[in-house]
Amino acid sequence: MKHEIVEKKIAVMGALIAVVISVGGLVEIAPLYMQSSVIEPSPGIKPYSALALEGRDVYVREGCYNCHSQMVRPLPAETERYGHYSIAGEAVYDHPFQFGSKRTGPDLARVGGRYTDEWHRIHLLNPRDVVPESNMPGFPWLAERTLDPAGTQAKMQALQKIGVPYTAQEITEASAAVSGRTEMEALIAYMQGLKFYGAPASESSSAKGQK
Ligand code: HEC
Repeated sequence: MKHEIVEKKIAVMGALIAVVISVGGLVEIAPLYMQSSVIEPSPGIKPYSALALEGRDVYVREGCYNCHSQMVRPLPAETERYGHYSIAGEAVYDHPFQFGSKRTGPDLARVGGRYTDEWHRIHLLNPRDVVPESNMPGFPWLAERTLDPAGTQAKMQALQKIGVPYTAQEITEASAAVSGRTEMEALIAYMQGLKFYGAPASESSSAKGQK
């Protein structure tokens, strides 16, 4: 009898479905806010420098994430190719994160230090000059466009408001750090910082045995 009410009154059914989903969601999501392995920054990680932060915006603007993920899965095929699998503590200063899901090109989460700045410069101008079979498009305009230092401080202040620990000094010096630099330089600075910064102590036990 009671069950009939639930089946016939769509509003009651809807409300009950909402309750069930909310409880299920809370059980999965709430612990993540308290688990140190999820919210603790990787030991070596620092907020992006002003130049790298601008480079990150170029990365987003040019849609690099449409072909490149930044998320190494904990599977041997991935860790052998790219390095240590991605951990949550690496993304604490990423707003928004660039995990991505499309891999037309390789994952870039560990690309920092793999190539020289000069390699990246040639590759971004025309990928086929260094990788003949590449179908990645060139981005030659990045070398000609200089950064607009006017917005850098505001971006850092906005990030500071949501928890990125920029110091007052870093923010004051931001405009000078990016003025006159090209978008290409900024993008390369960003990519050279994409590497493994170590696992927080709470996670290192589970990370043992992995590359
Ligand atoms: C249409 C898809 C596509 C887009 C968009 C794209 N890439 Fe690529 N990328 C590739 C492919 C395919 C490769 C592998 C061949 C090569 O190295 O050029 C690659 C390789 C790379 C590599 C070398 C990675 C390695 O480990 O060897 C880097 C670095 C890179 N891309 C950066 C970028 C950046 C930065 C952008 C945005 C400005 C970008 N890509 C946009 C497809 C793309």
